[in-house]
Amino acid sequence: MKVELAKTAGFCFGVKRAVDTVYRQVEEHPESPIYTYGPIIHNEEVIKDMEKHGVKVLKTAEELEKLTEGIVIIRSHGVPKSVYKLLEEKGLSCVDATCPFVKKIHKIAEEQSGKGAYIVVIGNPKHPEVAGIKGWAGEDVTVIETVEEAEKFQLKNEKQKLCIVSQTTFNYKKFKELVEIIEKKRYDIIVLNTICSATKERQEEARDIAKRVDAMIVVGDKRSSNTRKLFEICSNACADTYYIQTLDDFDMNQLRSVETVGITAGASTPNKIIEEVQNNVRINF
Ligand code: F3S
Repeated sequence: MKVELAKTAGFCFGVKRAVDTVYRQVEEHPESPIYTYGPIIHNEEVIKDMEKHGVKVLKTAEELEKLTEGIVIIRSHGVPKSVYKLLEEKGLSCVDATCPFVKKIHKIAEEQSGKGAYIVVIGNPKHPEVAGIKGWAGEDVTVIETVEEAEKFQLKNEKQKLCIVSQTTFNYKKFKELVEIIEKKRYDIIVLNTICSATKERQEEARDIAKRVDAMIVVGDKRSSNTRKLFEICSNACADTYYIQTLDDFDMNQLRSVETVGITAGASTPNKIIEEVQNNVRINF
């Protein structure tokens, strides 16, 4: 059997940076309580390991509100501006591990809002990154995820400038489709494609591999939106696609009749887990 591992599988630059930041803080401040505001990445294995090192996850703004001391690390997804204010008010030390590509979107949202523009964020409204971006725009902000939402969208003031940005992990084709629908409304629009190239490259490579293999394995946490998208893309190109969190979720017998297997993984999947899957597939066949 031939096994092909995607070169782009696993941690992207922003996630690696955030994870390294947490371990560095643990090493440099053994005496201080360390918190991450939300899980640092969408991966249970990584979170469990951090817990072993004493890192606690703050789940809500209320939990943050109750803190009196410690270091709070902001994850790669970023947070609304209000969270920085709260940290400052409380005098807590903040270590910002927001991915620079997400930070750039915050800057755009803040600047364009400041100039009076209406902000449209193309993305999943439930994703924390999108909530963070929204929190840098003013009142005039809408999140659009579906064709229906794009068709329904209307500016109250048709003369207002419209600025469209995207969640970094959004699917490029879908982004283009939604933007084209909004563009037909003939508003004064600036479109900033803020999809991260790491995502695009990972998606394209996954699609290419999935097209030519008999079976495809996508490794990543079930809550990771970019892993879910990878699974969607791979399933469309290869009917025999499996979504697993770790090696334990996978029954090797499923690969009995295949000759070629492709493996890819989401941006928040640690190398250790990918290697384990890859080695086991190779050993078993
Ligand atoms: Fe950053 Fe792109 Fe990763 S936005 S967190 S490098 S997917």
